[in-house]
Amino acid sequence: MTKNRKLEWDWFPGVIPENVVVDVTAYIETTFSFQFYRSQLSGGVEYKHGASTYLGTMFDVGPRGRVTLGEYALVHGARIICDSEIFIGDYALISWNVVLMDTYRVPLNAQERRRELELISTRELRIASADVPAKPIRIERNVWIGFDACVLPGVTIGEGSVIGAKSVVTENVSPFTVVAGNPARVIRQLDSQEKNHHA
Ligand SMILES: CC(C)(COP(=O)(O)OP(=O)(O)OC[C@H]1O[C@@H](n2cnc3c(N)ncnc32)[C@H](O)[C@@H]1OP(=O)(O)O)[C@@H](O)C(=O)NCCC(=O)NCCS
Repeated sequence: MTKNRKLEWDWFPGVIPENVVVDVTAYIETTFSFQFYRSQLSGGVEYKHGASTYLGTMFDVGPRGRVTLGEYALVHGARIICDSEIFIGDYALISWNVVLMDTYRVPLNAQERRRELELISTRELRIASADVPAKPIRIERNVWIGFDACVLPGVTIGEGSVIGAKSVVTENVSPFTVVAGNPARVIRQLDSQEKNHHA
């Protein structure tokens, strides 16, 4: 990162927001990832040692949102929709097109949703901002989330677990467990050799 918070290799003419904390060993492919970022918290996103985000990753983080990327966590093009807190543990691997959302952003009630759509058309920043509750997401260390999976508000994924491609994770996943499907269901527990591999 340069002194003016740009990236030498960036194709997008953006900057890394002032309140994003980036360890010197971390890697950010492009500042385009921060186009929807509007957290007002200090450390609204924190990249720990060796953490990285690649093309396609979007931090859609609201004013009170905070995202932490643990040591060597790698996010390969995920949409991170955060109005409270999303924690991604050390060595977690998040694959292409994964969606992590700690809030649905849009009200379930049709009338309120219509009002929100009308408001969006008058706003400069065309993002929903209805007062929809948010519930933190926690992805513990060594978790692997397959491509196109979706993690819904309030979910904790336990250490070393694996989420199958295209799964929708609606509830907590125990440590060292493989889940898949919509809604995600347990396929199997990892055996001790696989656990060590993930440890
Ligand atoms: C989750 C995953 C790792 C499971 O692999 P596995 O342990 O070898 O599982 P199996 O292939 O033996 O499948 C076990 C069962 O789960 C089902 N299953 C596996 N993956 C599934 C998925 N993503 N969605 C729904 N069902 C799935 C299988 O159909 C099988 O069902 P059955 O017992 O009724 O026949 C793998 O299927 C997967 O989704 N990998 C993601 C790959 C990826 O995203 N790579 C990106 C690179 S970072």
